[in-house]
Amino acid sequence: MTPLPDTAPDITVTTLLADTSQRTLADDVLAGLSASPKTLPPKHFYDSVGAELFDQICDLPEYYPTRAEREILVTQSAQIAQLTGATELVELGAGSADKTRVLLTALSEAGTLDTYVPMDVAEQQLRQVCEAIADEYPGLKVHGVAGDFLRHMDAVPASEGPRIVALLGGTVGNFIGADRADLLAGISAALRPTDYLLLGTDLVKDRAPLEAAYDDSQGVTAAFNRNVLQVINRELDADFDLNSFEHIALYNEQEEQIEMRLRSTLAQEVTIKNLSALRVVFEAGEEILTEVSAKFTPERLEQDLAGAGLELAWFETDSAGQFALSLSHPQLSP
Ligand code: SAH
Ligand code: TRP
Repeated sequence: MTPLPDTAPDITVTTLLADTSQRTLADDVLAGLSASPKTLPPKHFYDSVGAELFDQICDLPEYYPTRAEREILVTQSAQIAQLTGATELVELGAGSADKTRVLLTALSEAGTLDTYVPMDVAEQQLRQVCEAIADEYPGLKVHGVAGDFLRHMDAVPASEGPRIVALLGGTVGNFIGADRADLLAGISAALRPTDYLLLGTDLVKDRAPLEAAYDDSQGVTAAFNRNVLQVINRELDADFDLNSFEHIALYNEQEEQIEMRLRSTLAQEVTIKNLSALRVVFEAGEEILTEVSAKFTPERLEQDLAGAGLELAWFETDSAGQFALSLSHPQLSP
């Protein structure tokens, strides 16, 4: 074994959340819970408890997407490294960056890798990931960005060489309509002609495995879903009773998406003190839409990419055809 170089790890973390994150939560909760039907946007799931619960979801027997995506990365990372020649990996919504290691290893073995830029709203986890990865990959520059990939793409530092911008875990499916279009357009705008988007997308399949993946027998996903109410209780001084909300996860075949909801089991009123003591009334059985997770066909994927000026360059699934990874790049202008 060659001894590790004796240099201090090269880590920077830029934070863009400090003064705005509570404001965004308040705005989102006010807009979402005043709407009919009630909704909440997905990024507020991931406080430190939520991030931990999500890591548990990834290990559940029913939650196949993580294993399927890892399988593709294990079999295809050398190919991805060769196709892209990337010197830099930017990862949006990096989370625990577990699977990312497979790709980082392939890029370092190809001899091109210079910098890793994880971006996430979960700041505490992001800092830990930066430390751990800098330790595991001596010589790698690690530049964490604690920010919102819908608003802070500008904060990703410019790069010299070709770059991969990765969005793994099917996270793109958690955004619908204009939000997904904005997310992809924002990524597209950040790509230069030699850069690639590496996108993980869950695929359309039968209802049973889909619904099981989002409503596991141990109740971890239910706890994850309810945790968003705990975030609101803590951050906005609200009095949601978590026990009176039931976790629902159903596949909407028409829209080809899993829809997750919290259903109030009784008629009740919730007060949100830090939102001018807003009173939110729930009828018995009334639901909050907390998360969607879109499932893709290759056609739907190509359509969404094209809408953002991106062109599919490479597409692979796992051996069971459950999940897909793709590379796309900016369409050459005529
Ligand atoms: N990439 C990991 C984690 C996926 S979970 C995996 O594949 O397992 C989604 C991650 O995206 C979470 O870590 C969450 O904190 C982050 N996230 C969600 N919305 C975000 C946003 N708007 N901006 C930045 N990160 C976001
Ligand atoms: N990106 C993940 C997915 O769509 C997020 C996720 C998995 C999730 N399980 C969840 C979000 C449960 C909310 C609730 O698969």
